[in-house]
Amino acid sequence: MDKKLLINLQRVPKHVAIIMDGNGRWAKSKGMNRIFGHKNALTAVRESVEAASLINVKAITLYAFSTENWKRPKLEVDALMSLLINSLKKELADFIKNGVKVNAIGCTENLPKKAQKVLNDVIFETKNNTKITLTFALSYGSREEIVNAIKNISKKVVNKELSEKEITEKTINNHLYTFNLPNVDLMIRTSGEYRISNFLLWQMAYAELYFTDILWPDFRKEHFYDAIIDYQNRERRFGKTSEQITD
Ligand code: FPP
Repeated sequence: MDKKLLINLQRVPKHVAIIMDGNGRWAKSKGMNRIFGHKNALTAVRESVEAASLINVKAITLYAFSTENWKRPKLEVDALMSLLINSLKKELADFIKNGVKVNAIGCTENLPKKAQKVLNDVIFETKNNTKITLTFALSYGSREEIVNAIKNISKKVVNKELSEKEITEKTINNHLYTFNLPNVDLMIRTSGEYRISNFLLWQMAYAELYFTDILWPDFRKEHFYDAIIDYQNRERRFGKTSEQITD
């Protein structure tokens, strides 16, 4: 049966964030190297964006490369960068056709020049799309993002553009890489690991967390919808009591 039919389209999360984990273990289980796993991860990326778009999720953010991932063997880092460059180029026509607006968060200035160029081109070419925003977290670390926000806010205070009293949660939001995105409603992590791994810590304050044993290269639309159905069966109270929630 089509799992999509079980979804209440009135209560779809606005923003879904995904920690795509398990590429290495997937490859190893097939007697292949880790890079083979990353290459086979692209179908899962495509399926997730498509699944999200079909039920009107407005934003999907993928943890593609963390600040810590730079410590991996050079061969693997290079392969991931090539994969990023080639897949962005290859997918551009479909992004345009499907109304996907591409966005990036993280220290993208640390990426190889060629990756920066392709990324900027794709962001520019898709900037007027409105169906769904697809954000790639690249050289991303949440603590680094928060430190960066604090530095920028401090500069404004020193320059008297902002007073200490004026600093609110909104000020912090506006200085994060995600300033133009809604808070995360649902976070999915694959491969049976139960961690957040320095991903969108501020933005996930009230997110529902969903963990699955599926390894990322095996993740398909039906698995994405399983997560959405699970999310819809939960009651989000935001600190209130059940009785106060009207939905
Ligand atoms: C985690 O698996 C995955 C990554 C660190 C990289 C994510 C990259 C992709 C999904 C492929 C390319 C993406 C784009 C956007 C082009 P792991 O290597 O940590 O797996 P393991 O935990 O089994 O070793």
